[in-house]
Amino acid sequence: MPIYQLSNSNSVSLHIILNTKIMIQLHDKQFVPFISAKEIEFAIAKMVAQIEDDFADETPVFVGVLNGAFMVVSDFMKLYKKPCEVSFIKMASYEGTSSTEEVKQLIGLNQDLTGRTVVVIEDIVDTGNTVVELKALFKKQNVKHFKIATLFFKPEAYTKDVKIDYVGIRIPNKFIVGYGLDYNGLGRNLPEVYKLKE
Ligand code: IMP
Ligand code: MG
Repeated sequence: MPIYQLSNSNSVSLHIILNTKIMIQLHDKQFVPFISAKEIEFAIAKMVAQIEDDFADETPVFVGVLNGAFMVVSDFMKLYKKPCEVSFIKMASYEGTSSTEEVKQLIGLNQDLTGRTVVVIEDIVDTGNTVVELKALFKKQNVKHFKIATLFFKPEAYTKDVKIDYVGIRIPNKFIVGYGLDYNGLGRNLPEVYKLKE
């Protein structure tokens, strides 16, 4: 099996056979292919079409949740053809491979959103702690509409009542990396998604 070392660090290596990455090592864990770049593209296009339709007469403000959502926001914006704005907020709740109860706001919004239609764009909704925190935050801002769009959603892990308005792909309760999602900082640059090897 040919092994291509893509970085000088020993923590990231890709095992490749005939151009197909069959396994990825990030820190101490191994990950296997799960969702292709094509499937991701398709799921984002579907969300864009729904949101364009729902807000045809408005100029929504898309709020990406950093760090994980940077890649989905970029691809989403390139497909969205109607007037829109974009902003980012930075939240963090994860340590290693599990969510913590406490969600920290690390970089806040610097824009007045009173009366605006806000669509939060998340990479993934897991327990829902982050979306609950976001909903409370935007309620204080007196927005006109508050919607949540997420590329990935783990229904089995979700414990909250907040409605997730737009879902790209529903996944089982597995830890995934790639396409913006990380394991302790690594894996965000992968164009497709991998799941923890069992
Ligand atoms: P929640 O607050 O538990 O819904 O988790 C939301 C955040 O946790 C996401 O925005 C991600 O940053 C992170 N997260 C949740 N599940 C995963 C995963 O499977 N891989 C990587 N990060 C995850
Ligand atoms: Mg996130």
